[in-house]
Amino acid sequence: MRSKKVIRNPTIMKIIFYGQACFGVEFGGKHLLFDPFITPNEKAKGININDIKADYILLTHGHQDHIADAETIAKNNEAIIISGFETSVFMGNRGCKYHPMNHGGKWKFDFGTVKLVNAIHSSSFPDGSYAGNPHGFVIWNDEACFYHAGDTALTMDMKLIPMTCPKLNFAILPIGDNFTMGHEDAAIAAEFIECDNIVGCHYDTFGYIVIDKDAAKESFSKRGKMIKLPEIGETFEI
Ligand code: NI
Ligand code: MN
Repeated sequence: MRSKKVIRNPTIMKIIFYGQACFGVEFGGKHLLFDPFITPNEKAKGININDIKADYILLTHGHQDHIADAETIAKNNEAIIISGFETSVFMGNRGCKYHPMNHGGKWKFDFGTVKLVNAIHSSSFPDGSYAGNPHGFVIWNDEACFYHAGDTALTMDMKLIPMTCPKLNFAILPIGDNFTMGHEDAAIAAEFIECDNIVGCHYDTFGYIVIDKDAAKESFSKRGKMIKLPEIGETFEI
């Protein structure tokens, strides 16, 4: 069984990579920002977070390398945090606007529909407190559909995405290994989600997740998949 919706001739989207799992995506006329971890990232010193526009900030889980700059950027922009229940309330307690969700649920926002999907990982806030379960996002409107997997292992649950969501135009997958799936498993994930255009993330930020980029590209190309490995600060279209 497959979801019938296929977005033909999807709108070309402008995406900017800010390092680790942080991306800005212009979608449905809004600026979406994912997992901001910029000021603590030595490799992202060239990015000024006060220049970042965000209408919504989407957080996949509570780990520091995903939420570090969320409060500052949310307050700079009066952005709405979209995340799992615990992470949303945590940000709300810091004075941010938020929309709480949980796994399997979807909601129609003014830019499109957001669905929270499973991720196999852990989640706690920087102080060690409980941050709920980590998740990914599938986001779509009439222009396109994409998936930000967050931090995750390869999981059979990814096969549910093509059954329950429109066909993906692209997907952002972690490939750095050690804390998430590595590129070999991520290439299998690309098959599970039935998506040919992959953007890699969660690699090279620190020692545990340094990768061989040529080997990563090979993992995907041998399965007939494209992988984009953007530079920090790079804007690209997909
Ligand atoms: Ni994490
Ligand atoms: Mn992480």
